[in-house]
Amino acid sequence: MPDTLDRLPFDILFYIILHLDFDDLVSLAYTCKQLKTLLNENSICKKIIQTRFPYSKKAQLAQNQHISYPQAFNHIQDRRNAFSNAHPFSARIVGKANDFCYRQGKLCILKGNVISVLDSISKDVIINLSTISPGSWASSEELRLSLLFYNDDIVTVYCKKEGRPNNGHILAISIRPGLPDEDRLIKSIPLEDTRKLFARHTSQYLYYGTYSSVGPQGHDEWEIRGVSLDVNRTMPRDSLKLRGFFGTDVGSTIAFEIHNDAFCAVSNQTTFEVEEIDWTSFYHCIKFPLHDPTPAAMESNRNLWRRQHDEGVLQDSWTDLSLQIDEATHSLMIVEARREYQKTCHQQVRTFYISEFVSSPDSSIPSSEALTGLVLPWDDAYVATLDSTNNPNYARPEPRNNWNFHPEVPFKSNPNRSFLLARTKLRAYNYSCASFLDMVEDDRCCHLSESCLRLRIGSRRVAPLDWRPLEESMPERLSAPALSGDVAYRHSKVKMWPPPSSRCPCSKRLHQILNPPLPSGPAYNRSITGTLDEDNLVYMIRPGQSYNPSDDKALGIIVMTNFNQAALPPKILCSNESINKKNTDLSG
Ligand SMILES: *[C@@H]1O[C@H](CO)[C@@H](O)[C@H](O)[C@H]1NC(C)=O
Ligand SMILES: *[C@@H]1O[C@H](CO)[C@@H](O)[C@H](O)[C@H]1NC(C)=O
Ligand SMILES: *[C@@H]1O[C@H](CO)[C@@H](O)[C@H](O)[C@H]1NC(C)=O
Ligand SMILES: *[C@@H]1O[C@H](CO)[C@@H](O)[C@H](O)[C@H]1NC(C)=O
Ligand SMILES: *[C@@H]1O[C@H](CO)[C@@H](O)[C@H](O)[C@H]1NC(C)=O
Ligand SMILES: *[C@@H]1O[C@H](CO)[C@@H](O)[C@H](O)[C@H]1NC(C)=O
Ligand SMILES: *[C@@H]1O[C@H](CO)[C@@H](O)[C@H](O)[C@H]1NC(C)=O
Repeated sequence: MPDTLDRLPFDILFYIILHLDFDDLVSLAYTCKQLKTLLNENSICKKIIQTRFPYSKKAQLAQNQHISYPQAFNHIQDRRNAFSNAHPFSARIVGKANDFCYRQGKLCILKGNVISVLDSISKDVIINLSTISPGSWASSEELRLSLLFYNDDIVTVYCKKEGRPNNGHILAISIRPGLPDEDRLIKSIPLEDTRKLFARHTSQYLYYGTYSSVGPQGHDEWEIRGVSLDVNRTMPRDSLKLRGFFGTDVGSTIAFEIHNDAFCAVSNQTTFEVEEIDWTSFYHCIKFPLHDPTPAAMESNRNLWRRQHDEGVLQDSWTDLSLQIDEATHSLMIVEARREYQKTCHQQVRTFYISEFVSSPDSSIPSSEALTGLVLPWDDAYVATLDSTNNPNYARPEPRNNWNFHPEVPFKSNPNRSFLLARTKLRAYNYSCASFLDMVEDDRCCHLSESCLRLRIGSRRVAPLDWRPLEESMPERLSAPALSGDVAYRHSKVKMWPPPSSRCPCSKRLHQILNPPLPSGPAYNRSITGTLDEDNLVYMIRPGQSYNPSDDKALGIIVMTNFNQAALPPKILCSNESINKKNTDLSG
């Protein structure tokens, strides 16, 4: 029996590869030349990508033969490393803009009435909205524009004339390369209301929602409208009112996403009012098919267990809620960041909680209404104080697997540095990369008067089966299995990037790129918005809002940080403002 990998027959090695975890495989390849060679084989990489990352963007690119499978494998490997180690490959100032939208690797930039679409694969597309929007929009100065969403070669733009109420429109614009400008407008939709307007679309359906319907108890509720982008299909004229679906802030209390040709929404609450006496909090999930936005077709589940209130008092301003897709199973996942004051460790801890989105209620569990009065924690002293004005929710706490929660700082380990909310300008968590990313203002980085914007990234990976308890395996930080049959995770140290500017001239240059000087106003009240995906972090810095209305039109500066070696950020506007890791070592 051969005792080294390289003496195993190919077929056996092939099967071993298929059963190894992606990260273990990559690590093992460093120890074995034959294995490393195998990982350049198209058939093997194809098999690995198709089993581990079938729904990733790279898998689709490889399937459509834009890249080879070994390339896809390398991209995924690079990106995982670069991201989880806070080690981007490049950073660049893309240009000035009024607004931007970044999705699916395409960066749409709005500047004045012009939208530029940049991506690393195809040619840039420049669209002059003045030439394509309906006649009445042509006199351009008083137009107020913002980008709502991008998907499948369509960008949606919110467009309004200054100073006039009730005249907003959503424009759906095709950004397919090579189309003449006059053919770009797919749809122009007049809006009745624009409160909390958002849009999501595919190439066939456009959905938008506003917080403008009035519910039976007199509070505002969401209403959603669907429009077919295919002329021959008709859709219901009435909006779909999301009765009893509470929460106002997309991204913190609710999230909307299109997944598998269905419109999906999640809220962190099931009641409008806060109950005085309450034990359990549930997510409220709803879903309806894109072709049938009607109450009859809508699934609604108010019983997806979220937390027990006694897990700790929440720090509301840190709550982030999103719906993300699992790259291996294509399931929709609810990802919620919550900062709680935990009794067990007497401190505030941020944890990223992950649950699978389930829109059809489990029929084996009675609904929460039916639960009231039936199942209550009878040994709890508060039960005796309940009267008819209370409407408590109670369900037994559900066990959480280790994959269901990712603590920012693993239990018992040293939190090192934390940043105040006011200093944390962006927050994101990526479920596929099991990483969180904050953009913080660090006043200890460089000895300048202003604080530097830096990335702060932490991640975790499944630990090997023979993991050791924390004490023995230092410096690695470990979270042990929570339940039997569960996995353990190793947590990376939280890393900051870029290194202080005193480190080297290139680091100084990076600081200049990440912290571009703003034309007006002090840096401390700048506002930052950003988007993160598998390859890039894109953000826009704007001077802080002042009371001068003309500042609303003030341009922001867009910066792009790239985690993927292969795809360089688009090269435009000020191409000299970039720095590339290839020439320099900038590890944090
Ligand atoms: C956009 O089109 C309008 C009307 O044709 C024109 O006046 C304007 O100069 C164009 N803007 C750019 C940036 O090309
Ligand atoms: C819509 O229907 C008309 C008439 O039936 C047909 O000529 C046209 O090709 C259809 N368009 C699409 C996009 O299917
Ligand atoms: C949902 O999130 C918001 C914002 O963080 C918070 O105020 C609210 O209390 C949360 N709802 C529940 C039931 O925890
Ligand atoms: C805390 O962070 C600093 C700077 O990143 C690092 O030098 C130090 O080693 C860290 N301390 C611990 C205990 O991780
Ligand atoms: C997370 O990363 C995956 C793959 O790396 C990517 O496909 C996805 O868009 C990212 N999601 C978010 C919310 O950043
Ligand atoms: C931001 O700066 C402007 C101009 O200096 C000032 O008027 C405004 O009050 C500041 N905003 C905040 C929130 O500090
Ligand atoms: C880079 O571009 C800026 C304007 O965006 C210009 O002022 C500067 O001189 C350029 N630097 C180099 C080295 O070309």
